[in-house]
Amino acid sequence: MAKKINVAVVGASGMVGGELLRLLESRRFPVNEFYPFNSGRRPAAVAFKGRKYACLRPTLAALKKADLVFFVSTDEVSAKFAPRLAAAGVWCIDDSSYFRMAPGVPLVIPEVNGGELSSSGKLIAGPNCTITGAAVALACIHRKFRIKELRLATYQAVSGAGRAAMEQLEKELKLYFKTGSVPELPGPFPRPIAFNLFPQVGGFDAEGRSGEENKAAAELKKIWRSPGVKISVNAVRVPVLRGHSLGIWAKTAKPWTLKALAAELERTPGLEFFPDPYKYPSPLRHGNKTLKVYAGRLRKADTAPNEFQLWVVSDNLYKGAALNSMQIAERLLRETL
Ligand SMILES: NC(=O)c1ccc[n+]([C@@H]2O[C@H](COP(=O)([O-])OP(=O)(O)OC[C@H]3O[C@@H](n4cnc5c(N)ncnc54)[C@H](OP(=O)(O)O)[C@@H]3O)[C@@H](O)[C@H]2O)c1
Repeated sequence: MAKKINVAVVGASGMVGGELLRLLESRRFPVNEFYPFNSGRRPAAVAFKGRKYACLRPTLAALKKADLVFFVSTDEVSAKFAPRLAAAGVWCIDDSSYFRMAPGVPLVIPEVNGGELSSSGKLIAGPNCTITGAAVALACIHRKFRIKELRLATYQAVSGAGRAAMEQLEKELKLYFKTGSVPELPGPFPRPIAFNLFPQVGGFDAEGRSGEENKAAAELKKIWRSPGVKISVNAVRVPVLRGHSLGIWAKTAKPWTLKALAAELERTPGLEFFPDPYKYPSPLRHGNKTLKVYAGRLRKADTAPNEFQLWVVSDNLYKGAALNSMQIAERLLRETL
């Protein structure tokens, strides 16, 4: 029987935290003691393995009781606790963006670069939920044909911005059906999101790129260890509850045939590829509690030689966050813990 370990979840009352708890249960992760934490700003209780637990505000002393801590709360909380815990020998899997680009912290998608876990320290970062789909879907094609330019158009679900964002869309929709117009309510988004979309995910830098666009490009280069790939992203928030989609244009250094690209997609770990153009994935079916990344509509692009297009969908809360972290933990358990 696998060794049982003490597990803490910081952000257990959030969107990703909730999914993580269900995955710890359903995948039978061998949890001994379980410690859930939230901000402490409001009372919250979570159910885990048939028991109800009150969430507490995290402290270093309380977190040190765990062998493994999942950070699914905020950048500030991860920054405050994770390095000190890792230095004390506690495994930390961080879904915030704080350490993703830190030198020496591996940024891991197990199917793509899981080998980085074995040589890593105790602090491991999981990537941005948007880029996970591209990193997984294109991994084998990149290895074989070397992608040198990548253009990504993202269609990002509201749950990517957390529970408050999901609630915002639901509130706006309810008011629309009651009053006939979409209200301008204060909330996490720069514009109403019901029946709307906007090209802003995060703030803008001096050159007009959004935080999400910069993160996606930088993180993909790190995961693939390919700093030379040129990446251009247009990140858009759409009124989908769950499941991020990507329109991809990829230009390779080496020539290919569509058959050869399809063969790479068929054998890509963690990916399900739909060769029939009418069977493309969509968020409602393929981005909702789904365990893989899904791709379809492979075709040649007319814009340049060696350029192709692909459509990709993945569950931002699962493969984009909670499931990816679970898979990291499972691999650590098998190989290291
Ligand atoms: N949503 C996604 O698709 C996604 C994908 C990849 C990565 N992530 C990352 O995962 C993290 C969680 O995202 P989410 O979507 O689950 O957000 P969320 O639904 O807003 O949940 C945030 C969680 O963090 C807790 N929290 C906030 N401040 C805290 C503090 N000072 N100390 C301890 N806990 C605190 C909240 O507790 P209260 O209930 O007390 O407020 C809540 O449990 C973020 O870092 C996000 O960037 C999210």
